[in-house]
Order: sequence, then C-alpha cells, then structure tokens
Amino acid sequence: MSDTQAILAHMSLEEKAALCTGASNWTTTSLPRLNIPQVLVADGPHGIRRIPDGHAAAHQSLPATCFPTASCLAATWDPDLLYEMGQALAEEAIALGVDVILGPGVNIKRSPLCGRNFEYFSEDPYLAGEMAAGLIDGIQSKGVGTALKHFVANNQEFERFSISAEVDERAMREIYLPAFEKAVTKAKPWTVMCAYNKVNGTYASEHRRLLTDILKNEWGFAGLVLSDWGAVHDRVAALKAGLDLEMPGPKQTRVNALIAAVRDGILDEAVLDSSVRRIVEVVGRAAQTPKGGDFDVASHHALARMVAAEGMVLLKNNGLLPLKNPQRIAVIGRAAQEPHFQGGGSSHINPTQVDVPFAELQKLAGKATLYFAAGYREDDCFQQDLIDEATAAARSADVALLYVALPAFKESEGYDRADLDLAAHQVALIQAVTAVQSSTVVILNNGAPITMHDWIDGTAAVLEAWMMGQAGGGAIADILFGKTNPSGKLAETFPIKLADTPAYLHFPGENGEVRYSESLFVGYRYYDAKGAPTQFPFGHGLSYTTFAYANARASAAVFRDVDGVTVSVDVTNTGAVAGKEVVQVYVHDHEARLLRPFKELKGFAKVELQPGQTKPWPSPSTSALLPSTTPLISAGSQKAASLTF
Ligand code: BGC
Repeated sequence: MSDTQAILAHMSLEEKAALCTGASNWTTTSLPRLNIPQVLVADGPHGIRRIPDGHAAAHQSLPATCFPTASCLAATWDPDLLYEMGQALAEEAIALGVDVILGPGVNIKRSPLCGRNFEYFSEDPYLAGEMAAGLIDGIQSKGVGTALKHFVANNQEFERFSISAEVDERAMREIYLPAFEKAVTKAKPWTVMCAYNKVNGTYASEHRRLLTDILKNEWGFAGLVLSDWGAVHDRVAALKAGLDLEMPGPKQTRVNALIAAVRDGILDEAVLDSSVRRIVEVVGRAAQTPKGGDFDVASHHALARMVAAEGMVLLKNNGLLPLKNPQRIAVIGRAAQEPHFQGGGSSHINPTQVDVPFAELQKLAGKATLYFAAGYREDDCFQQDLIDEATAAARSADVALLYVALPAFKESEGYDRADLDLAAHQVALIQAVTAVQSSTVVILNNGAPITMHDWIDGTAAVLEAWMMGQAGGGAIADILFGKTNPSGKLAETFPIKLADTPAYLHFPGENGEVRYSESLFVGYRYYDAKGAPTQFPFGHGLSYTTFAYANARASAAVFRDVDGVTVSVDVTNTGAVAGKEVVQVYVHDHEARLLRPFKELKGFAKVELQPGQTKPWPSPSTSALLPSTTPLISAGSQKAASLTF
C-alpha cells in the first residue's frame, strides 16, 4: 500500500471532505491527526504576493522582487531565462514560506482588449506553452509548486465570473488548449487552476470533459485541480467533474455538501477519494519544500533588470538609438519619475526596491544635462500648461526621451479596455513634443498593444518597455545608451486600429455568451489570412546590429505527420556590435484538406552572436525537431511542408 493509500484508509469521510476545501484565503486544510500539514499558496506569477495572515489588501504583502509581467517575459523568447527567473521566484517563495505559486497564466490573447493580457504570454499557443514550461520548470526545480491558470478560455474580464466562451472544437484544440497541454506534459505543474467562466455553456469548474477527460486522462496530469477564487458554484458537480480543491476557504457548507452527497448516495466515495489522493500527494511534495531563510535581494533585482532588458522590444529606430553622447536631454513624462512597472489585481507585488527611470538615465548619461517635465497627469485630465512645459524642454534639448505609461484606469485585472489608445492628453503630448523635436524617443509602459497611428510618424524611435518590473527603469537606460542591444520580439501583433483585430465583432459578447467566431484565426493567423496590414507584426523587434540567414535546410523534404523534421539555418551577425537574434520557424501546409492558417510557429531559439560570428542553428547540442503531433498533414497522406524563416 502506498503512503497515500495508507493515509486515505485512515481518513474519515469528514476529513476527506474538509481536505477538499481551503482553510483560509491562502491555505489548504491541515489534518494534524494524520500528520497532514497545510499548503500555503500565493500569487504570482511574476513575483511572490505573500499576504501575511489577517491582511487582505495587496499592498500589505511582504516585499518580494517584482519581475516584468508575462507580456515582457514572452517577448524575451527565451525559456532558459524564464527557467532562471523561476528559480529566483522559488527562492523567494521558500524564504516567504510559500509552497505553491499561483501562476503562470497561459491563456491566449484573443483580443488585445482583455484587461489581464499583461499577465498572459502570447497570441500564439506554441510560444505561450514553451515560455510557461520554462518558468514552471525553473520554479519546480527548487521544490516549489505552480498553478497553471486559468483553464481554459478565460480570455476577457467582462462578465468573467459567468460568461460562456463559445469555442469550436478546432479552435479549442489548435489555439486554446495547446499551451496548457505543452505546459502540463512538458513541465508537470503541481496544480492547475480552473477558470471562472463557462466553456460552451458549462462552468469550467464543473467541466468534466476539460478537467477529467482531457486534462487528467488524455494529458496524464497527475497533480491537483484547484478552483479560481470563488469559481465553484455547485461543489458536488465540480468534484464529480474533476475539481479537486475548492479555494478559498473556510466554507463549512461546502464540506457539509460533500459529506451529505456521499451519505445520500449522490456522490460515489471513490470519486472523493481520487481527489483526496491528488491533494495528499501535493501536500506530501510541499512538505518536502525547504522553508524560511533569506533571498538575495540584490541579485534578484539584477536578474529582474536583465529579464526586462531582454523582453523590451525596439519597435522603431531611425538610427537615433543607441544615443550618441547627447549633451542636453529632455526627459518628459511622469513615468520617468513614477515608474509604471506592474498591473493591478491579484498579481500586484510589493517590490523590494524600485528603479526610477530618470535616476537610472542620469547614471549612464555622463556629463549630459537632463531636464525633466512631467508632461501629463495620471488621471484623464488634459492640462495644456504641462504640454507647454514639455515642448519648451524638448525644443532646447538635443534629444527628447518621452516616457508614457498607459494609465492604470485603462488596463487592469477586473475590467477590459474600452479602446487601444493612450489617453487623449498623452497623444496630444507626443504630437506636441515631436512637432518641435525630431529626435524624440517614445518609451512605452503598458501590458498589451496600443494604437500608434496618430503619433508614430513624428517619432525617431519607439521602445516598448511593457510592465517592466521593479528594475525596468535601469533596463530602459541600458537599451537607450546601448549597454544592452535590444533583442525582444513581439509575442503579439500590434494592430493599426481596434477595428482591425480578429475578435473585434465578437468581443466581449452579449446575453451571457461570447462567440469565438474567428475560430483558429487568432493573432497573426488572422492578419495573414486577410492579408491585412499591422502596425507591427508578431515576431517583430529591432536590434542595433544586423543578421543574415543562409543555408536554410530541413532533414527531409517530404515527411509524414508521424515523423519529425529537423530544420537548421546559419545565422551571421553582419553588424558592428554583439547581439541576439530570435530564429523563428513557421510551418505551412501546402495541400490542406481543411481550412488552415497560412503559417504556424513550431520552433524558435535565441542565439547570441559577436560581430562577424556565424552560428548554425540549432547548435549541435539542441534540436529544432518539430513534434510528431504537429498536424501538418492529414493522417496517412504524404506531402511536403515548407518551413519559413
Ligand atoms: C484570480 C487568480 C488569482 C486568485 C487568487 C483570482 O481572482 O483570477 O488569478 O490567483 O484570484 O488571488
């Protein structure tokens, strides 16, 4: 008999039911009689939000490193870096007594309007899955658990507790499930968190097909499924569907409901037992996690700076960047003094320290004189005198650095964005400054795409700095002055305008339903199919150097869907400075029987090259083997697939 079986054999029905419901906001139920300790969970995912017992508010959480949010993480295209960040997160979790980090979130960015997109990785399932797996592996390598969330089709905040996402089977299998599948099968998270919403009419928390048939049976998920906070409606139905642990607690009525259901013969005790078994096994793992001690605040801050710099995306550059020794720099925008480095809601971290962008610039600016003008207010109020002050500063400088943060009232967990625009007074500010200073760099802090068509033409350069974490101010300075050569690439399309976006006509839904009518055509799959222009496409990002690709080759020109294929290319740094390039491999099915996207990402790697250096990719030690499950062709047929670099 296994340990778990032995424990189960000694448990009363009451104890089993209690174990399936949380004891508090952040803890599971302990059963001292059976030596079952509590498990302590905390948000996540880009820092530890450990709220001491008795405190409810986010700002009361214990200090922890606030890393960049997932939009920025995905734009690094570097799962190894996320592994390293995951290890740092785990070290902080251990120091703060946390057993399981509630994240990462791997939901697909169906519409750029989703208020929580800053917490999600990408519009592409392959990229999202790889990045999530890297982070989970890093966290769990140190004995701390994760909660992969929110399973599934939680792609908006509007009516998030009740809306039914109406998703067809192919969109589910090719877009919304694969990132979860990859993370589950590759990285084996300890737990998976169900979504609030309904999926095709059934609450995710009560969705047997999703929680049991697909997640547990098809993918072999061995951990426990926990609810999002308050996502359970009918506890017995949820348990039967595969929802093992309801959070938060205490909720004695739920415990009683389970007990009564077993006694009344409505719930087979064997079903309860299988949930209890999963919970006991996670408790057992958590019990082995080391607890206490300190974490290295300074080195984690340095890592946060490095991650931020790797994820920032240089969208536009007319050659002004990196800065070439300007003598007078106008630093405009309140975000230069009050950095906007994270989003609102459950992922809000109390940072250990915060880099102020202005101060970090000053450190690298040598003898240059820096002038500051706030430029805009935090609220929605237009103030001409702030704009006038900013243009005066810009006019008398060699270069203007314009720090613009999308206001928190426009983007947060809990609500979707109404539009993709900066605030009107911010647009007016950019227009006014660029009208008097052609050497203007716009530095953006936002968690998801914004429109730029009203102002981008006047700028010399635009740097997407995302919700950049507590060390982002330094990372911006590193890029502006060329200490870091930017290598981030967009993990999501930046549209020209809202009406161009794939889900525009079907977001956020009505009468309790949101139809995913665009089906497979999410993100670049949509723009490709329509031949529609974008402001910046998926995968875009500039560098201070240039790269040449040569000798692209595949291990086979013709292959079956059961085979894999290795693709390789030689990449050369043809510029004057060291840099990193992200090689992206897309597949295209020439003879599809079914409607298919024009291209689909199936492999990528980030390579670092000195000037003049050439590296074959993948390097001999790695392999860009397309997974045999890649649905390139219909079963049994034999066709060529082209690989696009
Ligand atoms: C969020 C989750 C979060 C949980 C606990 C919920 O409202 O949707 O992402 O982990 O709260 O804070």
